[in-house]
Amino acid sequence: QELQMNLEQIEKGGYDHFMLKEIYEQPNVIKDTYRGRLHANQGLIQMAGIEDNLEKFLNADRIIIVACGTSWHAGLVAEYIIEEFARISVEVEYASEFRYRNPIINKNDVVIAISQSGETADTLAAIKLAKEKGAFVFGVCNVVGSSISRETHAGAYTHAGPEIGVASTKAFTTQITVLTMIALRLAKAKGTLSNSDFHRYLQELELIPEKVAEALTTNDKAKEIATKFKDAPNCLYLGRGYNFPVALEGALKLKEISYIHAEGYPAAEMKHGPIALIDEHMPVVVIAPKQGHYDKVVSNIQEIKSRSGKIIAVVTKGDTQVRELADYVIEIPDTSDALSPLLTTIPLQLLSYHIAVLRGCNVDQPRNLAKSVTVE
Ligand code: G6P
Repeated sequence: QELQMNLEQIEKGGYDHFMLKEIYEQPNVIKDTYRGRLHANQGLIQMAGIEDNLEKFLNADRIIIVACGTSWHAGLVAEYIIEEFARISVEVEYASEFRYRNPIINKNDVVIAISQSGETADTLAAIKLAKEKGAFVFGVCNVVGSSISRETHAGAYTHAGPEIGVASTKAFTTQITVLTMIALRLAKAKGTLSNSDFHRYLQELELIPEKVAEALTTNDKAKEIATKFKDAPNCLYLGRGYNFPVALEGALKLKEISYIHAEGYPAAEMKHGPIALIDEHMPVVVIAPKQGHYDKVVSNIQEIKSRSGKIIAVVTKGDTQVRELADYVIEIPDTSDALSPLLTTIPLQLLSYHIAVLRGCNVDQPRNLAKSVTVE
């Protein structure tokens, strides 16, 4: 028993929980994921799985992304990035829906399956279906040699290392890293980004690990905010554009580990429903970095404030406008809009972690959830 306890403590590397350890590993694992692939100085992205199949991607009529859970959220971020950078139309599907709805799949479609474990039953079945229909299937997996990595025609691994916490953290940011590199590589081949933009994105991506490290210094702030909202029965997360999927992921993290009901919404959709829920008891987490539709998000924040909602805003360092309106602000470093999900995600992970800890929840093994869902 005692030996077991000690082993676990060693594995947690001094952190109270695997989830917190994994949140803190993100600067390093993002670097591990782009190492040898991203060559900012030379203006190059090299990924064997993409180079070997470049024509398939370039001839694709569309890309269909299939995944579940947090990986599906990474897929949504990728949709925005691939469409913007490479101008290829992207659809993102829940693997479980895709496999049962007789989907239209053509030979010229490229299917990207995203899975941390590489074992999710629905994602695996979706891949088999896509292959039967003649599509080229590319995997983005974390676990080397997993079923999905073997079942796909080609792929690119994330190098997040083992993720033990059931709630996914570092797998998400490394998935986005891989998918961003794919988008950039395709953009380069298609000429859909100007040379200067392409080089700028490469350089910005290279700087992301140190900016993630800076975003991690919001831990104390997240903890302070957690003490205020730990007893809230509900929580709303809002974001636009690249940060709409981050709102979904922030809400998922909170509900998974703290059992607080949370919903993520595109900020502009608030007026079509969730606004009815807003009163002085409703915490609303708004992702409002200065690059992304900032003015629109500010007016959404005003709408929440005029209904007495409690505003927790994730903003770019130095922001003043949102600070005047929000009850709490969490500052993250500046980066371009497309890369901002890699930073805005960090304080949301920390916030849900601290709320769950304060509520006495089993952070690493939340009730009713499994790390890999191998049954449908
Ligand atoms: C489970 C896990 C989630 C994960 C999802 C998809 O629900 O608890 O954290 O996002 O499965 O898993 P995958 O391994 O396919 O990414």
